[in-house]
Amino acid sequence: MSPDPQLPAHDDPAHELDALANAARAHLRRRRAFGDRSVRLPAPERPSAARPATTSPAPTRPEPAPPRPESPAVRPLAPPPPPPTLRTPPAAVPRPVAPPPPPLAQPNVAPAPSPASEVAARAAACKDLASLRAAVAECRACGLCSTRTQTVFSDGPDRARLLFVGEAPGEQEDLQGVPFVGPAGPLLTDIIEKGIGIPRSQVAIANVLKCRPPGNRDPSQEEKRACAPWLARQIELLGPEVIVPLGRHAANHLLGVEGPDLRSMGSLRGQVLESRFGKLVPTYHPSYLLRTPDAKKDCWKDIQVAMGLLGLEPPKKRG
Ligand code: URA
Repeated sequence: MSPDPQLPAHDDPAHELDALANAARAHLRRRRAFGDRSVRLPAPERPSAARPATTSPAPTRPEPAPPRPESPAVRPLAPPPPPPTLRTPPAAVPRPVAPPPPPLAQPNVAPAPSPASEVAARAAACKDLASLRAAVAECRACGLCSTRTQTVFSDGPDRARLLFVGEAPGEQEDLQGVPFVGPAGPLLTDIIEKGIGIPRSQVAIANVLKCRPPGNRDPSQEEKRACAPWLARQIELLGPEVIVPLGRHAANHLLGVEGPDLRSMGSLRGQVLESRFGKLVPTYHPSYLLRTPDAKKDCWKDIQVAMGLLGLEPPKKRG
């Protein structure tokens, strides 16, 4: 090994060792002064016992002036590097990624579509009564879908000059899928066939609700609103000239009256009313007529008004 040109040459090995030890001490002090806290300063230099007393002190390299004590203001920000090691550092454990914060409320978000607007969109997409019937059968816009046996769409042809509109299916209608086939059905059939004098199959019959309310209770406002677009599209496709609403629920619904403003049948019947669906001639519900037979003569008057609009003559009295 060639001698270090920085160190003075020594013939005496003891002096050489002293000089090396002093140089090492100076080196450690400098590292310590520059923030390496892993350095432990050796004890101050003591005269070597191995050194003979007669021996003059070994010349040492002049040490650099000790650095000024560190002030907090100039302390290095980064910690001193770790001492070198051969051990493989442990693999960095990935920190769990926190889920992103929920998005802030957006001020201009469109409101969720109501059942009625969803039904209206689906109804508008139906180009004929067959597709409308199929769409109604899939409807889940209100709670009645969970209690119905099936939907009750209509009875009669696809185009009709006269349309009867009832309130909602009853038990038999729910079971058979056809309107007015329960207790009130035969009376309506008599009104059409004996009163007007045409086969029931030539008129259209539908309801405001397409599903049966449990226990035949009155339809709720929400149910009527959710179901309304089906009937509106049905009327559009049927194209009737005259509509006969049966009872106050159907009459008020077709007139767009709801809530506490529902009008009584007494104030609605006996006249032609204009509506967004065309001409209405409201009359009593057949179920009411079964309970109140005296009202049948008024119903007959109403039916004659409807027939007059259609240009139909009452059938000749049998002699
Ligand atoms: N009552 C109605 O309003 N509609 C029907 O279909 C049967 C009874």
